[in-house]
Order: sequence, then C-alpha cells, then structure tokens
Amino acid sequence: MKILSLRLIVALIIGVTLVSLASSWFELRTTKDALRRELESKAETLGQSLAAAAEGPLQAGDTARLELMVRRSTNDAHMLGIGIYDRDGTSLVVTPGLGSLLSGAPKLMTDALHGNRTVSGFVRSGLKRTHMVVAPIRAIDNKAIGEVIVVHDATYIRTEIFRAWSRFFLRMAVQVLVIAIITLVVLRWSLTGPIARISQWMKALRTGRHAVQPRAQDLNLLSPFANELAPLAESMWQARAAAETEARLRNINESLWTAQRLADHVRNRLNGSNLFVVSNREPYRHIRQDQKVKVTIPPSGLVTAIEPILRACRGTWVAHGSGNADAETVDTHDRLQVPPDDPRYTLRRVWLSSEEEDGYYNGFSNEGLWPLCHIAHTRPTFRASDWEYYNRVNQKFANALVEEIAGEDHPVVLIQDYHFALLPRLIKDRLPHARVAIFWHIPWPNAESFSICPWQRELLDGLLGADLIGFHTQAHCNNFLNTVHNVLEAKVDWEHFSIERNQHRSSILPFPISVELLDDHSLAQTGMTAEEERSALLQELGIEVTYLGVGVDRVDYTKGILERFQAVESFLERYPKYQGKFTFIQIGAPTRSRIKRYADFQAEVKAEAERINERFKRGKWKAIVFQNREHTHEEVQRYYRAAHLCMVTSLHDGMNLVAKEYVAARQDERGVLILSRFTGAARELHDAIIVNPYDIESTAEAIAHALEMNVSEMVDRMRRMRRSVRERNIYWWAATLIGELCELRLKKAYTNVSVIGRAQVER
Ligand code: G6P
Repeated sequence: MKILSLRLIVALIIGVTLVSLASSWFELRTTKDALRRELESKAETLGQSLAAAAEGPLQAGDTARLELMVRRSTNDAHMLGIGIYDRDGTSLVVTPGLGSLLSGAPKLMTDALHGNRTVSGFVRSGLKRTHMVVAPIRAIDNKAIGEVIVVHDATYIRTEIFRAWSRFFLRMAVQVLVIAIITLVVLRWSLTGPIARISQWMKALRTGRHAVQPRAQDLNLLSPFANELAPLAESMWQARAAAETEARLRNINESLWTAQRLADHVRNRLNGSNLFVVSNREPYRHIRQDQKVKVTIPPSGLVTAIEPILRACRGTWVAHGSGNADAETVDTHDRLQVPPDDPRYTLRRVWLSSEEEDGYYNGFSNEGLWPLCHIAHTRPTFRASDWEYYNRVNQKFANALVEEIAGEDHPVVLIQDYHFALLPRLIKDRLPHARVAIFWHIPWPNAESFSICPWQRELLDGLLGADLIGFHTQAHCNNFLNTVHNVLEAKVDWEHFSIERNQHRSSILPFPISVELLDDHSLAQTGMTAEEERSALLQELGIEVTYLGVGVDRVDYTKGILERFQAVESFLERYPKYQGKFTFIQIGAPTRSRIKRYADFQAEVKAEAERINERFKRGKWKAIVFQNREHTHEEVQRYYRAAHLCMVTSLHDGMNLVAKEYVAARQDERGVLILSRFTGAARELHDAIIVNPYDIESTAEAIAHALEMNVSEMVDRMRRMRRSVRERNIYWWAATLIGELCELRLKKAYTNVSVIGRAQVER
C-alpha cells in the first residue's frame, strides 16, 4: 500500500509540476518581453527627445546647456548614464562612469551616425547587462551632426524574472505538499482504511479472536473482493470450528462426528461413488419479490438435517422447484450449484404442474399420509385421483434421478420421506446396481392405523424396493415390520430387523436424526450473552418482561400449538405473580396453506392467542406473541439463546429437531426444554421436562418448574442434553445411515418385480 501511495503521489506531483512549469514558463517569458519592450520604448523616447533638444545647443557650441539637459534627464530609474557626441565622435557631455560601459557601444554609435537613425540594443558590459539607445542629432537639413547615447541598467529584468521563478517554486512546493496530503487522506479514507479493517477482520478470523465484521460501506467499496471474502470468512470459521473440535476430540480421545470426518468417512465408504439425495422440499428456494430475486431456506426439519451432509459430501440433491423464480436460476439441465454464496453441491430441480402439486403434495402426501402417520386426530383423506398424481410424480422424480445417475458405477441414493414411498422400487427396477435407502422422517403408525390407507400394499411394495429403510426410533421400525407382516407375504426377520421378499432384502433400522452442534461458534459471532441478547430482542419487539418462553414450529396441527397456548394460560392462572412478567413467543411459519385443515388451523391458533391475551390483558403486556411468518435460521437462533424455556409439545412427531436445535443453541448451558413425550426426541433428551401435551395442567406446572429451576440443576440438565446432541449429531446420523447402506450386501439378480394391482389391494 505504501508503494501504491508513493506511486500515486509521485505521478500526481510530476503531472502537476510539468503543467505548472510549462504555463509559468510562458507567463514569465511574456513578462520578460514586456519589461524589455517597456525599457526599450522608454529609452528610445528619452534618447530621441534629447537628440531633438540637443540640436540647437550643439550648433551653438553651448556645452553648458547640453550639460544641463543631460543632468535633468539622469534621474530616471535604472539609468546608468547619458553621453552627447559630435559628428567626429568627440564627447561633448558624458555622465560620470559612462565611459567604462561603452566598450560595446562604438558599433551602435557608428550604425546610428552612418544610418542616420536611432539604434538600440541590449549589450553586455562586463558583468552588467545594459540597454543602449543611440539617437542621431540632426541639423535642419536632416544631416546627422552628432549623437546622443542613453544607457540603462537592464539587470533588474533578470532579477525580476528570477524572483518570479522563486515565487513559482515556492508555490509548487506548497502545491506538492497539499497534493500529497490530500492523496494520502483520500487513499487512507477510501482504500487503505477499509483494507486495513478488512485485513484486521481476516486476521481476527485467522487467529480465532473475536471478529467484528467491517462496516457495510467498507465492504461496498471493495464489493467484488468483499463478495468473495464473506463466504471465505464463513468457511474459515467452519474450518476452524471443525479443526478445534477435531483437536478437542483427539485430546479427550472421544470420537465425535464433524463435517470433515463425515466427508472423509463417506468418501471412504462410497469408494468413488456419488451421493444422490431426493426430497420433495428443496434446500434453497428462489423467490421474486419487488423485482428482485431472493433466496430463502424453507422451514423444514428435513432441510435443516440434510443440508450439512450435502455440504460435507458434495453430491446431487433432487427436489421439487417450488419457488416462483426457481426456473430463472437453473441451467439448461435444471441444475444449479448451491449454497448460492458458497457452492458445494448440485441441486437438480424437478418441475410440477399445479395439478400434480395438488394431487401428489397437498392431496395424497399431506391430506392422506401425513395425518395417517401422525396420531393427531385429523382424519386422513385418500382420493383415487391424488393417488394417480402420487404415482405420476414419483415416476417423474425417478426419471430425473436416473438422468442424474447416468453413468455412475456405484451410486448411493438417499430418498427422503413420505412423499416418495414408491421411488425406491422405481429406482431399483431401473438401476439394480444402485444402493438405495429411504428415510421416513415421520412416525410409522401401528399396523391397524396404517391399514386405513387403501393403497397400503403398493406403498409397502414401493418402500421395500429399498435396501435400507430408516426411521427415527425402534418403535417406528417395529410398527413397520408389523405392518409388512400383516399386509404382505414376506419373510420378516425380527432378529436382524430385515424383510426378505422377491429375493430382495431390506434392512429396517432406526437412525435418530439430529442437528449440528457447534461449540463457541454463534456466541463468538454475536459477542452477546443470553441476557444481552434477551434485552436486545425484547427491546426490538417492544416487550418489557423478565421471563421469556419460545416455541418454533410450522403452524401444523400435529405440533400441539393450541395445547401449548392453553398450558401458558393455565400457568398464568395458577401462578398469577408471572402475569406481566412472562411472555411466550410463538414463531409460527405458515405451511401447506392451500390445504383447508392448515388454513383453518392457522386461524385457530391466531384466535386462541388473541383470546388468551384478551383474558389477561394488562397494559402493553401480552401473554402470547404469535409471529406468524418465516424466520431465518439466524433470527431463530436469537430467540433460542434469549429464551428461558423452549416448548415442544407435538401431539406426535417423528423426531422434532426444534428440541435439538434449542439445545444446540444454548452454549451458555442455560435454558430449559419442555418436551412432549410423543416426539422421537424425548427418547434421547431425558433431561428435558417431559410432558404429555394433552394434559394441560401438568404442562402448566412444567412451565413453572422450568422458570423456578435452580441454576445448577438447569446447567446439569442442559450439559447432559448437549453432550447427547453433540455425540449423536447430524454427521453421526449421516455416517451411520450411509455407512450401514454401504455395508449391505446387494443381491445381484434383482428382477421380476411386480407391483401389485389395484384389484388385489386389501382394504
Ligand atoms: C416435515 C417433513 C418434511 C417436510 C417438512 C416441512 O418435517 O418430514 O419432509 O419438508 O415437514 O413441510 P413442507 O410440506 O413445507 O415441506
């Protein structure tokens, strides 16, 4: 930077100096010419007027008059002397000292006399520069009878020019100084300053100190550079966090799973094969809003869980392109690289018509399978037309996946969730060499409940195309094995938890999904304690309370949001001292709103919050704040860190990652988790306060218990829950799932798979 400043300053100075030098040179040359002309004309006028006046006295030989005339004329500035000569060159009157100056004059004097004209010139006389003018004295007949010489000192012209040059150089020096200072200030202000701040930031990131991101204007100024730096900084953070975790693991001789370890493990296991993930929900959705395209991350536990795996292992994710600007952002093969700011893997989008979306997604998946698998007292609806679309869309995804897999020798395919029960079979039929797993992110109900579905055999047959079928808990695996046992002719092996059918074996195993738990990451990023975070958040929301509870869900009837609100109501009723002091914030992302049950439920939740708030109305205080919009991951993290307690009261839930996210966010080992016993998470997070959400009064007591829990118990509980999430994190989940899939022995002859027809379906 010093060299750049120096170069810039020197270049500016040379430029400015050359321009000033040229203009001053012309200016001073003009001044010099003017001074010379002025002297010439003054001397010539004096010489000629003296010559005219001298004619009479010269003819009359009146030397005294001539002397008088000369004396009167010598008081002129810069005058060196005047001399009057007759025609023969005899001096008649000569001022003192003139003689010594006239060594160069004779030529001028002869020229003037012979030419009978006034002659002048600048003559060097020894060290002096002089100006001489010789004017002939003419008689009446115009003949030259003598001459007058006037000599001026011309040195002052040089002195004057010399002074002007000195002034010029002084001015130049000041200019150079001002230019240098201004250049330095501008450089420092707009370039070196921001660069220094960015480099301090980078240094802090590199050395792991607390790093404050430079101001937006600094980053704006260096925007192309900054666009690269922000993701780089994020990657450095992640690399540092991973390296630190690895180092800690080495030290304590544990074997925790990190992104890096998963990547190595999967690379090892896949042995050159690629990973292909399929889900309905895409990890990044492009939305056009106010002429701008912005990227959003949909609120989905599945996305939260799968995204870090793809980041670690690269590969391809095939999903439904549901954003209104999705089509604008893909290439000709409907692919794009994501995450958008730090591309690590390929997202392949599949397009669905609105009829397909309605039948397959809203209809069969979410009005049929979702309530079928969740025991939440919403009746499943199965329509033949929805089933048709479900088949068609599964086929569409199979085509896309086959396109992506083309040419792969040992592809590994991870299918996600209840939207794709038929996909494992469709893939296996076309790509028998692919290792296929499906993970069912929602509960699997008991065989009797599942038998409500008119197409239960087809669904089971589709699923059994997979080599591995994963659920969150052993109980869901058992339900599945039972269902198959009841519905299909297949060999159910309860010892190894596998099913053999049509010479194909599927393993049915539990893999409790999880999240990423980063130690010291978010705290270092915000630099805030829980108290500071809480007061900042409350101030932004305009709420003044001492205690804060939070719930984070999609507004889904399985999440027990109404029961949760009623528990808050009952708690405030039983413990009135908390009225005005405790607020429960419900972050509720709108979801599946084209389905009537969801639209109705959203209105019910809103109305319930309003009813309870109205009941306890007290000044500006509200018992429940319902924030009915999508929140970013970062926003949600703030609530987690700020809340005294988090309530997860699902009526039925496969796992529920909010519970684990809350634990992962509490680096301060504070906060209490109230957790429904009907979630998969309750089987692992024993240190939560486990509740039955249907029992409103005891959930109200759980709130009081959480708020009044002493700190050491709270820390003990949170520490144990954090250890559990840390050890069985999302990388562990992926590693065991992919590891298990890669371990399975695939049978070679996989042919003759028949999908059982509609007529054979048991009802
Ligand atoms: C559950 C499902 C996911 C789904 C998510 C969000 O977690 O298991 O597959 O993505 O809900 O629902 P949505 O219908 O918005 O994708």
